Amino acid sequence: MKFYLNSNAAKADILVLLLEKGEKLSAATRKTLGSLAEEAKKRIKAKDFEGEEGETIILYGKKNIVLLGMGDLKSSLPQAMEQLGGKIASIAKKMKSESVAIMVKEDYLSDIANGIVLGAYEFDKYKKKDAKKIQLKEVIFLATKNKKNKEIMEEAEIFSLTSPLTRDLVNIPAGDLSTKDMVNEARKLAKKYGMKIIVMNEAQLKKAGCGAILGVGQGAKETSKLIFLQYKKASKSKVPNLAFIGKGVVFDTGGLNLKPTGYIETMKQDMAGAATVLGTMKAIAEAKLKGHYLGVLACAENAVSDRAQRPGDVVRAFNGKSIEISNTDAEGRLCLADALSYTEAKFKPKKIVDIATLTGAVSVALGYFITGVMGNNEKFLDQVLKAASAAGERAWPLPLDADFIKATKGDFTDLKNSTNGVRAGSSMGGAFLSNFVTKDTPWVHFDIGGTAWAEKTSSTTKYGATGVALRTLFKLADQHQG
Ligand code: BES
Ligand code: ZN
Ligand code: ZN
Repeated sequence: MKFYLNSNAAKADILVLLLEKGEKLSAATRKTLGSLAEEAKKRIKAKDFEGEEGETIILYGKKNIVLLGMGDLKSSLPQAMEQLGGKIASIAKKMKSESVAIMVKEDYLSDIANGIVLGAYEFDKYKKKDAKKIQLKEVIFLATKNKKNKEIMEEAEIFSLTSPLTRDLVNIPAGDLSTKDMVNEARKLAKKYGMKIIVMNEAQLKKAGCGAILGVGQGAKETSKLIFLQYKKASKSKVPNLAFIGKGVVFDTGGLNLKPTGYIETMKQDMAGAATVLGTMKAIAEAKLKGHYLGVLACAENAVSDRAQRPGDVVRAFNGKSIEISNTDAEGRLCLADALSYTEAKFKPKKIVDIATLTGAVSVALGYFITGVMGNNEKFLDQVLKAASAAGERAWPLPLDADFIKATKGDFTDLKNSTNGVRAGSSMGGAFLSNFVTKDTPWVHFDIGGTAWAEKTSSTTKYGATGVALRTLFKLADQHQG
């Protein structure tokens, strides 16, 4: 999707004018509306249109014009503008428009643009092909062509090239997306953008001592993989400025601690962290960022079979720590244990971000729209929270206090992967991970267990993958150039 700034709507199929509750038409707006200005004024006066949030009316003319209500901005939700962007995408679809012009206060360009990208997404891989399908291709904002607005247009375009990749990978069922397919996806990306790629297969993981991720995948036909994508452009730094590590469990049955009906159905989503890292690496390459970045995908399938790991089994992670498998369903932290410690030791990144559908508990704490974040460095955590907010996404810090970390100690082993009686499931997940990063490297963990998947369709989400945190990770990458 292309995003432009222009002074008029001449090139667009339709024009969407966003108005606050009770807002009158200004002289400039009337000029843009041209011959339909009188009708718009009449309809507003007749209270045919009051500017309630999401309210729409269409004025038919040479160019059809849609009035879209923004509601009362003082009491609106954080994601309200993004939702309106999504609404514009569905209006464009209904009116069979390939291009839409938008008139809105400049403060909202970014949120509206991102909402359009999110709302226009469809996962139709398994549907009958519709040859006549019309897709929104161009979005033209009637706004000033300054540096800030141009950057917003560029970022929105990059988002439109990357968010569908991440969402598609999450939506594709595990039957069609194995750990091997994840390798192929990463190879495709590496080839297209000239990134370096290293793939560790089962034998190499064994040799390196990555027993934790191997244990998770040992019951599956397709074995575990650690995938490293390295992007470097005009950077003086020998080591990555930032490493992104994603949980890539292509399907999480729970293992022998099998997930019951009601919990297992959507577990193809369990590679959303890895899919977001791939999307982020693509965004970095599309934006031609100047810097050194590492993307790591920790891929495994948590299957049930006679070869699957058992509760009570003991594995040893790359950093030498022994782990008792107290619950085979706490597998994400095992994959990340090796990915984190191997990445830190071998690539020595200056900072590490990991992203994972790690716990169901995070949605108990924060619901389906706020991502939980935690880490070992206040300053970096603060930077991450600010990046999320600048990217228009919601994130909230969860505690990683010393007692949580103590509670990850094992009875017969150094650690165990789940501990009874502590509750605080998301903090315990983060606490377990903290054993695999040294204090020298600032590290932040994103738990997207509540936010990667939408049960309900809204104007920006369809049932399925949300593509959450992609914009935040890209914003962070942007801030770590050099
Ligand atoms: N993949 C799940 C977490 C999850 C659940 C993500 C629902 C998205 C939606 C993870 O591997 C898991 O099963 N975690 C357990 C941990 C527990 C066994 C310590 C959980 O959250 O219940
Ligand atoms: Zn699990
Ligand atoms: Zn999982």
